Amino acid sequence: MRLEKAAEKLRLYGQEHILKYYDTLSETEKEELLRQIEQTDFSVISQITGEHIELKRGTITPIQAMTLSEIQEHEKSFTDNGLEAIKAGKIAAVLLAGGMGTRLGSDDPKGMYDIGLTKPVYIFERLIRNLFDIVDQTGTWIHLFVMTSDKNHEATTSFFEKQNYFGYDPEYIHFFRQEMAPAVTYDGKVYMESRNHIATSPNGNGGWFASMKNAGLLDLIHDSGIEWLNVFAVDNVLQRIADPCFIGATLEKNCKVGAKVVRKADPDEKVGVMCLEDGRPSIVEYYEQTDQLRNTKTETGEPAYNFGVILNYLFHEKSLEEICDTTLPLHLVEKKIPYINEEGVFIKPEEPNGYKFESLILDMIHLLDTCLPYEVVREKEFAPVKNKTGVDSVESARALLEKNGYSL
Ligand code: UTP
Repeated sequence: MRLEKAAEKLRLYGQEHILKYYDTLSETEKEELLRQIEQTDFSVISQITGEHIELKRGTITPIQAMTLSEIQEHEKSFTDNGLEAIKAGKIAAVLLAGGMGTRLGSDDPKGMYDIGLTKPVYIFERLIRNLFDIVDQTGTWIHLFVMTSDKNHEATTSFFEKQNYFGYDPEYIHFFRQEMAPAVTYDGKVYMESRNHIATSPNGNGGWFASMKNAGLLDLIHDSGIEWLNVFAVDNVLQRIADPCFIGATLEKNCKVGAKVVRKADPDEKVGVMCLEDGRPSIVEYYEQTDQLRNTKTETGEPAYNFGVILNYLFHEKSLEEICDTTLPLHLVEKKIPYINEEGVFIKPEEPNGYKFESLILDMIHLLDTCLPYEVVREKEFAPVKNKTGVDSVESARALLEKNGYSL
């Protein structure tokens, strides 16, 4: 992109300050900056400046979940079905590890975090060991796709290599990068991370399938006969991956997606809850949950919106291909964004100082017409590491791991 064109694009979005240091840059740096301006979608910023029209929610009604007792009743047939699908190579796993983990506050990718006490126990290692349980049980390697971002790709891939993939067959591990989006001040000015770099951050976990497609991975999926993708978050160290009973249940119920859920610990717990929206499966994020929604009861007196998602989904791959080009809503998320100030000094803020734009995987659920909310036992399957201390922290995850018999 030529300088004049870049300046015109920036003028259109009120971002002329991006070229402030242009004249002081080397030729290569100038080219880098112009390329970044060309590739960046600044139109998303209109969300902050108020030009964005809020997406209206449809009518929310409760959804039926498959509860623990129902699962127990059919456990054998679900599990047998799931094991058969795994052995036939129909199941692959997708690890979402492109996030910045800003709440945890480590400079390394979250998966490199060592939660061990007497020995190193890295989060990535715990997840691979969990996957190994099924690989060993079925005698079948399961393809694992790992989503990274520009911010953590090199660190993640070299860590896996250094750790010898924790014994997993590297032929079955495939890394791909997600896209980035500009990070901005509260009044919508793009931050600069250096004189020739716009501050960008990963664009949320909603674009994972589009990014897999862009990375050319669908050929591998088709050629290997993969039909289902079990997508999960990096930060739940008790994550059950390619769980045969869950797979079997989703297959038997003929749903396009299965979603592992837990009963909410209390009405105010910060988890998205499953529901129907205009008769289609959907999720209401915790910050959208009204008192009315929290207080609604079923006929038996149970809270009607009581099943929280834990970011473990089983997606029918062909159905994802059908919805892949649908644009997902963009969410504004407050974050700590490193930047250079007016004097050109690099600052790493201690508190959130602006917004990043994210599309979310939970918004994909509403695009599919059938979903099976599948209840799991919280203490056995949900130990998220979001913060250093307190709720959903390294401390709480350690306690849950120990309770489940893992030595740290
Ligand atoms: P979180 O919502 O906890 O975000 O991600 P985060 O960026 O990791 O952490 P904070 O909010 O900055 O502390 C939930 C899951 O989605 C992945 C994360 O890696 C995690 O597995 N994720 C999130 C991505 O892969 N890409 C993103 O852009 C955001």
